[in-house]
Amino acid sequence: MTSAPVVDPAPDTTTVATSPVTVQRIGGRIGAVVSGVRLGGDLEPAVVAAVRAAALEHKVIFFRGQDHLDGESHEAFGRLLGSPVAHPTVPSADGRYALGIDSDHGGRANQWHTDVTFVPAYPAFSILRVVTVPPYGGNTLWSNTAAAYAELPEPLRTLADGLRAIHSNDYDYAAVRPDARPEAFAKYREVFTSTKFRTEHPVVRVHPETGERVLLLGNFVQRIAGLTGRDSRALIDLFQSHIERPENTVRWQWRTGDVAIWDNRATQHYGVDDSGTHDRKLRRVTVDGDVPIGTDGRPSVLISPDTVPAPAFGIPSGASTAD
Ligand SMILES: [Fe+2]
Repeated sequence: MTSAPVVDPAPDTTTVATSPVTVQRIGGRIGAVVSGVRLGGDLEPAVVAAVRAAALEHKVIFFRGQDHLDGESHEAFGRLLGSPVAHPTVPSADGRYALGIDSDHGGRANQWHTDVTFVPAYPAFSILRVVTVPPYGGNTLWSNTAAAYAELPEPLRTLADGLRAIHSNDYDYAAVRPDARPEAFAKYREVFTSTKFRTEHPVVRVHPETGERVLLLGNFVQRIAGLTGRDSRALIDLFQSHIERPENTVRWQWRTGDVAIWDNRATQHYGVDDSGTHDRKLRRVTVDGDVPIGTDGRPSVLISPDTVPAPAFGIPSGASTAD
């Protein structure tokens, strides 16, 4: 067997000693391309460890040439990073864990968000495989929410440390999707909010693997706990503006065969809706996260409903927090 990989903590290029895996940074604060890995359920532990370490360090990592992947091997690879979980409300694309992200069905994500933060233990990693690439546009952006926190002036870090925010999947879709086609839009909204979740999270989460402090906001945030109206909006906008600074982001132009893996606990992302009526299809497998903990040690809390209902198949994201 191979020995454990040696990974330099801040390299431009990392070579795993016993395998041809290379990690090439593409952004100053976020993003790397990983080469030398054929993704699937049969990777050696040393390679899985190198992939996981790269995702934790670079927040989002990209793989080219993964055209061999199908639903089964996509899920099998996901299992190497954690337990796959189903979306709490949206039925899967394959009767198992793969969520379809399809431009035809209202499922565009052109708002900055972290996946599924309307439940407490939202996914740790998301693994996105492109199925149909549009002829132009349809890029995805990711932001490093640890870098966004780290760059805050000290008084703002202290302010953020003490805040908590209410996240819900029942947000104002008309405000963010004014151009959506009415039928697709209404249908998507009906499914997406079939159970209405409300969860209170700390605005600053201590990452369970890296120990970094990260900002936890995004488009599922309704308001800052204890504040209303303009005060709440102003604070959300203030911190969110640091997350969206171009210096904290990376932008990826999809090609056939691409896969992206991101640390969903340390990132937000945004799917750019600029491909007109062209098809853009992706499949996403997420793996289970744990309950966020704030800087004061307080965990996130599910406010409503009492538990996360079981989906048609498997366990839902956030189920481990149902107590
Ligand atoms: Fe997303």
